[in-house]
Amino acid sequence: MTAQTGLRLVKRDASGVDLAFRADVLAGLAEPQKAIPARWFYDDAGSQLFEDITQLPEYYPTRAETEILETRSAEIADLIGAGRAVVEFGSGSSVKTPLLLSAIAPSAYVPLDIAGDFLRASSADLAAKFPGLPVWPVEADFMRRVELPDEVEDLPKLGFFPGSTIGNMIARTATDLLRSMRETLGEGALLLIGMDLVKDEDVLLAAYDDAAGVTARFNLNLAERINRELAGDIPVDKLRHEARWNDIFARIEMHLVASEDITFTVSGQRFTMWEGESIHTENSHKFTKRSSQMLLAAGGWEPRARWTDEARQFSLVLAESRPPRSAP
Ligand code: AVJ
Repeated sequence: MTAQTGLRLVKRDASGVDLAFRADVLAGLAEPQKAIPARWFYDDAGSQLFEDITQLPEYYPTRAETEILETRSAEIADLIGAGRAVVEFGSGSSVKTPLLLSAIAPSAYVPLDIAGDFLRASSADLAAKFPGLPVWPVEADFMRRVELPDEVEDLPKLGFFPGSTIGNMIARTATDLLRSMRETLGEGALLLIGMDLVKDEDVLLAAYDDAAGVTARFNLNLAERINRELAGDIPVDKLRHEARWNDIFARIEMHLVASEDITFTVSGQRFTMWEGESIHTENSHKFTKRSSQMLLAAGGWEPRARWTDEARQFSLVLAESRPPRSAP
C-alpha cells in the first residue's frame, strides 16, 4: 500500500538542528517587524495543541467544515463523480478525510505531507478504515509541484485541501500554491478546498483567543520550541499572546507581544524587543464569496460549486483546472 520515496526532506546539522527552522527564525527575528512563518508551530506539542484548539467552543472552523461534509455529501459526490484519485495536501489526521472518501467512491488516496512519520501513521489508519482502497503516501513539500506515483498517473484527480490552511498564506504565496497544485494534479483535475469566511470581528477574535487559553499556549509554544531546538533563552513568561483583526488584509493575525523590554539569544545571536513590540507568528485570512473566487481564478482554478454550513461561517469550494484562455 505504500509508495515511499525514501528521501529525507528535513535537513539537519550534526547536532540535529533543523536548518530551515533556524534560518527562518534568525532571519525573521532580524526584521523590523519580527515575524516567524506559521508552519513552525507544528512540532509534536504544537500539533497536539492544534488538535485541542479544534475542540474549543470558540473555534468554529473544524466543526463548520465537518458539518458541510456531513450534510452536503450527496451533492458533493454527485459533482465529483466516482473513480477519482484523491490527493490530499497535508495528510489528514481528522475526521474530514474519511467523510470525503466514504462519500465519493475514490479509486485511490494519495496523502502528501512533509512530515514522513506522521504521514505513514495517518496513511496506515486510513488504509485500515478503507480496505480495498489503494493508499499511496508521498513525502513531499507540496508548495512545489509534486511527482505523483505512477499508479495514479492515468486516473482523474481530486485535490483536497481542507481546514482553510490556504488562509495562512498571503495572496501571492496562495496563488503560487494553487498554481503548483494545478501542475501536480493535471488538467481536468478538481479541487475541493476549505476557505474560512469574513464574519463578526468578536467571533473571529474569540476563535483565536479562547477563554481557556489553549490558543495562547499554541502561540507561546513557538517561543518554547525555539528555546528547545535552537539553544534559545527567550523569557517566554514576558511574552503574551495577542490576536488582532487586520481589516485591510481581512485576516486574523497572531502576535507574541513583549510585556517589558527584553533581550535574548537564539543560536548564539542576540535580539532585543521593546515593551509592546511583537513577533508576528500567523496570518489567517478570511474570505468572502467573491474574494475566494478571485483567489482561485488567479491560481488557475474555475469555481464550480460552493457550500457553506447552516450558520454561514465557513465555505467549501469545488473548482476545476481549466486550460488558460485569454480571449476575449
Ligand atoms: C490550521 C491554519 C487553519 O488559521 O485557523 C488555529 C491554525 N491558528 N488557531 C487557522 C490556527 C490559531 C488554523 N489553520
